[in-house]
Amino acid sequence: MPTLNLDLGARSYPIYIDSGLFENEKLFSDHIRGKRVCIVTNTIVAPLYLEKIKSKLTNFDVDEIILPDGEAEKSLANFERIMSHLLKNEHGRDTTLIALGGGVIGDITGFAAASYQRGVDFIQVPTTVLSQVDSSVGGKTAVNHPLGKNMIGAFYQPKAVIIDIDSLVTLPVREFNAGMAEVIKYGILGDYDFFVWLENNISSIKAGDKTLLAEMIERCCQCKADIVANDETEAGVRALLNLGHTFGHAIEAEQGYGNWLHGEAVATGMVLAGKLAVAMNLLEVSELCRIESLIEAFDLPLQAPETMGCDDFTRHMRRDKKNIGGKLRFIVPTAIGKSEIRDDITQETLQQIL
Ligand SMILES: NC(=O)c1ccc[n+]([C@@H]2O[C@H](COP(=O)([O-])OP(=O)(O)OC[C@H]3O[C@@H](n4cnc5c(N)ncnc54)[C@H](O)[C@@H]3O)[C@@H](O)[C@H]2O)c1
Ligand SMILES: [Zn+2]
Repeated sequence: MPTLNLDLGARSYPIYIDSGLFENEKLFSDHIRGKRVCIVTNTIVAPLYLEKIKSKLTNFDVDEIILPDGEAEKSLANFERIMSHLLKNEHGRDTTLIALGGGVIGDITGFAAASYQRGVDFIQVPTTVLSQVDSSVGGKTAVNHPLGKNMIGAFYQPKAVIIDIDSLVTLPVREFNAGMAEVIKYGILGDYDFFVWLENNISSIKAGDKTLLAEMIERCCQCKADIVANDETEAGVRALLNLGHTFGHAIEAEQGYGNWLHGEAVATGMVLAGKLAVAMNLLEVSELCRIESLIEAFDLPLQAPETMGCDDFTRHMRRDKKNIGGKLRFIVPTAIGKSEIRDDITQETLQQIL
């Protein structure tokens, strides 16, 4: 039984969240239509989990692509490499791609699946906190362009998402904490009770308590699934998921991708969005302090890089995909558990908080 279902009519799919799922042979085969499978992964994840997954797919003709690690590899060059591999190995339209890894692998594999022969099936097998709570659910797929992150992509949903909590055991602490920024985001943007639950469970989560991690990931996926089911292509409410991302993307772009992890930039971005809300009298200072404390508890940064001024931020923020009609749009928290999309933020207010 799936833990959750993302309800999108004909494009609905199950999300499985548990320990030991990589041992479950049937779970994988139930979501593979044809005989052929190509697993896309990277040099870090392959030695950890590739053979395990392959050993569960003995009834299929399986090959793999092992990309180098890192955000820089979410590129058109590697997209082409995947296309060439599939063509050379004569994968047909009934092949299934499996994305085994973090958000980088999930995004590029999803886009490859959307494009190869106009679309083949794919399964998300996310192995980082960030990809388990965010990028593997919802069907946003992309590669980066030198002129902008995620600038080339498609909305394309997987056939299933298989989240084995056990895979987090090997994740470096810094990556774990970066993923926690997206977890905290769900609490701030729309779920006060979840925010309190996180405040109450900080040490057990950091200690890797599997029951708590499963519950945490399920609550995040449920939140994302609800939002995506209401707004698949981000015409409205889905934009709330970008809380902290307008500032965060600017930090990532300015500092060079990889120097600040995505989640770290989002953590600081959420603090800046909170400061913006306080400056506009939309949020109580005491609530901003609680947000900062929770972020800090996971060793995430609260302050933008000292070298970055207001102009550096606005230069990047003008390119944001959320902007409409030349106006900067921000998601701002109006309370813990409530947020709004605003496009009435003045340059003076920005200058004040940056
Ligand atoms: N599609 C979406 O909706 C969406 C949402 C948020 C973020 N993203 C994208 O996700 C990407 C970031 O994802 P990420 O944070 O998972 O980064 P990532 O994929 O780079 O993974 C982080 C690091 O952890 C390693 N790793 C992965 N699983 C591991 C494991 N189980 N054990 C040990 N090491 C492991 C990776 O090799 C990498 O070095 C960005 O490209 C971002 O744009 C997409
Ligand atoms: Zn994010």
